Amino acid sequence: MRSRQQQIALVTGSSSGIGYEASLRLAQNGIYTYASMRNLSKSGEILGYAKRDNLPLKTLRLDITDEESISGAIDKIIAEKNRIDIIVNNAGYSLLGPLEQLDIDEIKDEFETNFFGIIRLIQSALPIMRKQGYGRIINISSLAGRIGFPLSSAYVSSKFALEGLVESLRYEVQPFGIHVTLIEPGVIKTNFVNNMKIGRNVITSSNNNSNNGISPYVEILQKRISAFKPRFEKGLAASKVADMVLEAVTADNPKVRYLVGEDALKMMEKRKNSTDEEITRLVMNSVLGGESS
Ligand SMILES: NC(=O)c1ccc[n+]([C@@H]2O[C@H](COP(=O)([O-])OP(=O)(O)OC[C@H]3O[C@@H](n4cnc5c(N)ncnc54)[C@H](OP(=O)(O)O)[C@@H]3O)[C@@H](O)[C@H]2O)c1
Repeated sequence: MRSRQQQIALVTGSSSGIGYEASLRLAQNGIYTYASMRNLSKSGEILGYAKRDNLPLKTLRLDITDEESISGAIDKIIAEKNRIDIIVNNAGYSLLGPLEQLDIDEIKDEFETNFFGIIRLIQSALPIMRKQGYGRIINISSLAGRIGFPLSSAYVSSKFALEGLVESLRYEVQPFGIHVTLIEPGVIKTNFVNNMKIGRNVITSSNNNSNNGISPYVEILQKRISAFKPRFEKGLAASKVADMVLEAVTADNPKVRYLVGEDALKMMEKRKNSTDEEITRLVMNSVLGGESS
C-alpha cells in the first residue's frame, strides 16, 4: 500500500454533509483529496477550511448524472496526479412519496444519481485502479439499503441496488487489489432533508386534491413528512461517517459493510433476530411514532 501522502482520493457530493466531512477527513490524514461537487459555487467553505489548515484538498466539478462530467473529472485527476487510489461514492438524495403517485421519470432520476452514476464512476476508475493493482471504492449506502421504510420505495430500492452491486463486484476486483465497501449510516444531520424531493404528483394535503380525489396516502405521508425534520435534527454528526470512511480507507482488509450510528446498529441487531412482522412494527414505530400495520 502507498503511504497516505502518496494516495489520491476523489469524493462525490462534497458541497455539504457527509461528502464535505469525508473530503476534509481524508485530507486531514494526508491523502490528496479531490472534493468534487456539481456546482462549484458551493466550494468556498471547504476551500477556506483547507487553506486555513493547509490541507491537500482541491475542488473539482463533477455531476454524477453526466457522463462527460465524470470523464472530464477523471481525465483531470490523471493528468495532474496520474493515479486514483480512493473513490468515495457519496452524492445522493431521497425521493419521497407513495409509489403509486411517483412518476417513473422521477424514479429513473433517483436511480441515475444514487445508482447508475456510481456505476459510471466505478467503470471509469476500474481500468486505472486495476493497472495500479490498488484501489478502495467506498460507497455511502444507508440503513435504508438493508431495511425498507414507508413512502421511500424509490430511495430504498436505489440503496438496495447499490448493496447488491457491491456484494457482487467485490469478487471481481479483489484479485486486482481493489476493495469495494459499503458504509451504512443511520440518521445523520446534514442537508439531506432539505434536499429531499417529494414526487411532483404526490398529494401531500387533503386540500390540493381537486383533480385526483382524496388521496388514501395523505395521512401517512403527513406523518412521515412531519417526523423527518425532528428526527434528522437529532441525527448523528456527519463527521462520524467521515471517521468510518477513513477507517475503511486505511484498514488492511476493509470489511464489506460498516454501520454508523447507534440507531443503525440497534436496528440491524434487531433485524437479525426478528420476524418480518416484528420489523414492520419497529419501523412504523420509529419513523411514524407509534402507528403499526
Ligand atoms: N443524512 C442521512 O441521514 C443519511 C443516512 C444514510 C445515508 N445517507 C447518504 O449519504 C449521502 C450524502 O447525503 P447527505 O446526508 O450528506 O446529504 P446532503 O447534505 O444533501 O448531501 C448530498 C450531496 O450530494 C450532492 N449531489 C446530489 N446530486 C448530485 C449529482 N447529480 N452530482 C453530484 N453531486 C450530487 C449534493 O450536491 P448539491 O449541493 O449540488 O445538491 C450534496 O453535495 C447520500 O448518498 C445519502 O443517501 C444519508
